Amino acid sequence: MLALSFLVLFASPDSIAFEPTNQLGLGTSKYKDLYVAVASVGKVMHLDTETGIYLGDFISSKNIGAGSITDVSVCSCGGAIAMLDEAEKTVRLYDYDRNKLWNYDLKGPELFYDKQSVNAIALCQDSDYEHVIATAPGKIFHISPPGQSSKVFPKEILSTLGNPAGAYMDFIKQVFICDPDNSRIIKTTEYGNLTGSFGQGVLSSPVDVSTTEDNDRRIWVADSGTKKVHVFSENFAHLFDCGDGIVKNPSSVICDYLDSGCYVGEVTDGKVNIHKFDKNGVYLFSIKDLMSLPAQKLSYTKTGSYVLYNRSGENIKLSTPAKNTSGIFMVELRAVCESLGFEVLWAPKTRTVTIRKPGSSIKLNIDNATVELPDKRILLDPKPTILKSRIIVPSTFFDMALDISSSSTQDTIFFISPKLIPGQTPPKPDIGKDLFEAKCNRCHQAPSPDTKERDIWPEIVKRMASKDPSWITSVDSDRISHYLWGQGKPGKKP
Ligand code: HEC
Repeated sequence: MLALSFLVLFASPDSIAFEPTNQLGLGTSKYKDLYVAVASVGKVMHLDTETGIYLGDFISSKNIGAGSITDVSVCSCGGAIAMLDEAEKTVRLYDYDRNKLWNYDLKGPELFYDKQSVNAIALCQDSDYEHVIATAPGKIFHISPPGQSSKVFPKEILSTLGNPAGAYMDFIKQVFICDPDNSRIIKTTEYGNLTGSFGQGVLSSPVDVSTTEDNDRRIWVADSGTKKVHVFSENFAHLFDCGDGIVKNPSSVICDYLDSGCYVGEVTDGKVNIHKFDKNGVYLFSIKDLMSLPAQKLSYTKTGSYVLYNRSGENIKLSTPAKNTSGIFMVELRAVCESLGFEVLWAPKTRTVTIRKPGSSIKLNIDNATVELPDKRILLDPKPTILKSRIIVPSTFFDMALDISSSSTQDTIFFISPKLIPGQTPPKPDIGKDLFEAKCNRCHQAPSPDTKERDIWPEIVKRMASKDPSWITSVDSDRISHYLWGQGKPGKKP
């Protein structure tokens, strides 16, 4: 009797600590977004794929009334972000602006799923993105948007599966599911008709799978048994493995839509690490101990540009284009500082500008070009100027005087605050630039910036690509769209 009442006590919902089965989820979009769901803190973090900069949290379980967030899946075309709330057995779908699209309750009357865990989710990669595959012990679900019926995969498939792990649904609705109990990946149609099975003899305990969206359609598998990432061709031939000696406990894998490389996530010693490999498995960089990274802001502007693009928020108009003066870029001070979260105060009497952020404040005198730092005084060269009531400073000012790293390529200046930390790489010119030059320059000159929203570009580029449909894939047109989103409207050839 006593033992029983103890049991009841411990089994009351409040006293059961929620133990997620999945620790980490990854998603990328064609806008260089990397989303990382970290179960232990119940949030989805947002990173810039190219630099590894943590741009802030996308969402936390508290914000959306979720019990947990243990996996994330992103439609790389930018349409939607699905999150798995394993505690509530709910799939929560949001758009990239954090607007809720819908929630799906797996415990609801359609599926009646009342078991302990849900392992992983996969959001469809095509434009019909509101379809989600969810895996759970002995079960796989196809969850459809409201108004369409959701289904459990057929018994024939499920009877041979043990506890399916990570999944992926590609842009033609082919489904890949990790079957660690049988050391293989199965491939099915969207509602679970088996179309293939592979990896036996190579894989040991596959836990996550993703494919590239390029013409090669390679299949990347995180294998916690061999502690490597294995890459297969679309015909299931084992091409190579990677991560040996770099990855200790691969648990999550996602291919980068834009460059067909791959991110591999792991939790080791309580730390979240993400490793990036290129298309051929060459190791590029690691984001180590993600949870300890400070949130940073990334803004950039093209030389001659009237627009400053803020990677984590709104785009800001410059009133003076950034100019190259004897190798140093002269840029508008206020717009850059404000886009990075600094406050700018102008004292007309002393012709001094104060730039501050909680905990720090510096002064710049325009007339004598001196900057007063807490410990020293520096002289700016070239000198700052005032143009149409705007203060223009050399970009080197930011590196010397503020917690900002600036870097420049031939035509773009990047600003990152707080400063780049060891292991982070300065951004490179956009991936679509070469493609634009190869494919669009025939009729156009280099783009000049404007403030079009990012979602406007894909349609325009698609329409342009149709002028000569033979030479452009949809991934290439998305790469060009991304480039133009950063760069603006192409000029016409005279
Ligand atoms: C065969 C010549 C040709 C090629 C190739 C071409 N364009 Fe164009 N583009 C034009 C013409 C002509 C216009 C103006 C008329 C129009 O909008 O269709 C234009 C207009 C545009 C506009 C402005 C449209 C708007 O709605 O604001 C953009 C943006 C653009 N092109 C981008 C591109 C990109 C990106 C590519 C490469 C994928 C490309 N173009 C390839 C001829 C071309």
